[in-house]
Amino acid sequence: MNLNRRALSLFILFASSAMKIACAAPASTNAEEAVSSLLSQMTAEEKQSLLHGLMIIPVIPGVVFPQDSLIGAGYVPGVKRLNIPPLKETDASLGVSYVSGLRKDGATALPSSLAMAAAWDPALAHRAGVMLGTEAGAAGFNVILAGGVNLVRDPRNGRNFEYYSEDPLLSGVLAGQSIAGIQSQHVLSTVKHFAVNDYETGRTYHNAVISNAAARESDLLAFELAIEIGHPGAVMCGYNRINGPYACGSNELLNKTLKKDWGYKGFVMSDWGAVKSADFLLSGLDQQSGAQLDEKYWFREPLSANLKSEGRNGKYSAAVDESARRILTSMYAVGLIDHPQVIKKRDVAAGAAVAQAVEENGIVLLKNARQLLPLPRTYKNIVVVGGHADEGVISGGGSSQVAPEGGPAFLDRFGKGPIPELPRAAYYMPSAPLDAMRALAKNTEFTFVDSLYPEAAAAVAKRADAVIVFATKWATEGEDHFNMRLPYGQDAVIAAVAASNPNTVVVLETPGAVEMPWHDQVAAIVEAWYPGIRGGEAIANILYGAVAPSGRLPVSFPVDTSQLPRPSVPGAGMTAKEIERGFDIDYNIEGSDVGYRWFARTGKKPRYAFGHGLTYTSFGYRDLTLTPDSTGRLKASFTVINTGEKDGTDTPQLYLLNQPNRTQQRLAGWDRVTLKPGESKTISVDVDPRLLANWDEKSHSWKVDSGRYRLGVGSNSEEISQTADTSLSAASLAP
Ligand code: GLC
Repeated sequence: MNLNRRALSLFILFASSAMKIACAAPASTNAEEAVSSLLSQMTAEEKQSLLHGLMIIPVIPGVVFPQDSLIGAGYVPGVKRLNIPPLKETDASLGVSYVSGLRKDGATALPSSLAMAAAWDPALAHRAGVMLGTEAGAAGFNVILAGGVNLVRDPRNGRNFEYYSEDPLLSGVLAGQSIAGIQSQHVLSTVKHFAVNDYETGRTYHNAVISNAAARESDLLAFELAIEIGHPGAVMCGYNRINGPYACGSNELLNKTLKKDWGYKGFVMSDWGAVKSADFLLSGLDQQSGAQLDEKYWFREPLSANLKSEGRNGKYSAAVDESARRILTSMYAVGLIDHPQVIKKRDVAAGAAVAQAVEENGIVLLKNARQLLPLPRTYKNIVVVGGHADEGVISGGGSSQVAPEGGPAFLDRFGKGPIPELPRAAYYMPSAPLDAMRALAKNTEFTFVDSLYPEAAAAVAKRADAVIVFATKWATEGEDHFNMRLPYGQDAVIAAVAASNPNTVVVLETPGAVEMPWHDQVAAIVEAWYPGIRGGEAIANILYGAVAPSGRLPVSFPVDTSQLPRPSVPGAGMTAKEIERGFDIDYNIEGSDVGYRWFARTGKKPRYAFGHGLTYTSFGYRDLTLTPDSTGRLKASFTVINTGEKDGTDTPQLYLLNQPNRTQQRLAGWDRVTLKPGESKTISVDVDPRLLANWDEKSHSWKVDSGRYRLGVGSNSEEISQTADTSLSAASLAP
């Protein structure tokens, strides 16, 4: 993290070394001096106390929670005599978490990060981050464990709803903007789960096997961009092993890549229950989180024993100093010391407005045969089927679960899962699409029928002007799906309804791609992801055209699992004992060819391509020109035209299509433009040179090869309508 001194609050340092008196965290001419001053006043025990924290959730009997802690993910004591505040940590990327109802205040439930990513809108990601930071602060937290940026390598990963995309550029830019928004409110954000934590099955046992080059060009690039843009105060290392060592104990990942190559100045906190030894401190881990979940409070007694046995100035005490320095540096950088949070009532309406904006911009219109959408308000009767659309919209489970005051509209309970402290229940947010549609189309008669019986739904649907079938698929932290299908026989309901009424619209509330056996039988398909606290209103506005759809897929939609690098989820079907023995996940199958890159390499055709999304108008592109500058940086410019009859928002995407010695399609940039019919706009994109380079392990650097490069602009990764070539000279970029 490049600490931008200007971004830090200025402090006037009171010389107190001679008097050795404790003074409040002093203002200093800059953060480094302030941190050095504090460290010089701290005892060894005080420094070490910054290195471990508790989870403030009563899952283990007998753990005493500090007086001033808040129910939530974590608490790390401060140093009161020096006015260093404790870290009060809440989850997560989608809002201040509900902690299964242990917290009595509610929070704004954002739509899934996939919906955020489907908006392809960095400014909106920043705005959502500001809301997250504001609400976390109002609840009394000064840390939010947000910034989930793992790549969506498989649509069956249970946590995809907390992540952005299959592409490192889109993921890194949006995560970075969200983090910057959060931290603008003096709440420290993480970026997580570092790294290649891309499945949930056996997450604390499996070993991610991936070449350094493939990791650098995919998962690590997403983190690198997010860190450069957002300057997160902390990086959370993940549960899994990566090429052998645990991520939280990987010297390669933490000391060499993150801290040395990237120059990261913040601190590394572990995931909760991810620490296996006090020696993780020497590998680059700075803070043990949720220590009661580990076998030992490694960074407390075992570390103290190491400090004692090595005597003064040993490697452990040097590491403790370095970790304490990093933690304090981040606290200063984000303003935790200078801007303590004060608990106050949150602005519910303001939060809801942000959530609705994210969902309205993130909904993707996948199919719209016969221009069935937008729905005419003149329709006399509409049948609405399933998805609990008469009560609310679904959300994802696990540590990121958010709920409003009073809790979810209702919840679908399931049995115990692999993580006992994470209850398995699908929370539905109280935002019913049916109510929202009724409010928009007051002269239409709506009939709701649940999706228990295909025959019943088909019989009712027969007479309707149109049928809207809602289909949901729950996902949660801690487990993957073992197929891409809709559960509960929803496919049969959709097929039966489509057979009885050609004007069938399917609204998917899913954590990503699902199989669509009924695809050719339905007229329209809308992906609404996990819609958030105003999901019903947002869905209704899109269906009725009050808001024009503008979302574009941030992930490919495969036809089925046969198109994936791993047709079955690694570890699926293993017994608990087998999982505990650990297993490898060979990510070198696809390497950095994740998602659309995999389809480009294999020539397989997904159901819907990365970047796909229809609007109620059409767009064209022309005059693509590529201008390399003397430093090898490349600027692209092109013109977008609204060639249709209605206003619309387009997301033209620029892709690298070919390099001198390698063919790998890569998203190289994009923009979002709203144009009236006939209106055009010229866009320019500065291409990050790492997207034109390949990671070269031998020289441990990014290499741009000299020669011809082809780039193209299009409406998705498959429909490239304009290409242009240029030449670049060889260049080597710092790691
Ligand atoms: C969880 C998650 C992590 C979360 C943390 C605290 O297990 O992996 O995303 O922030 O623990 O709840």
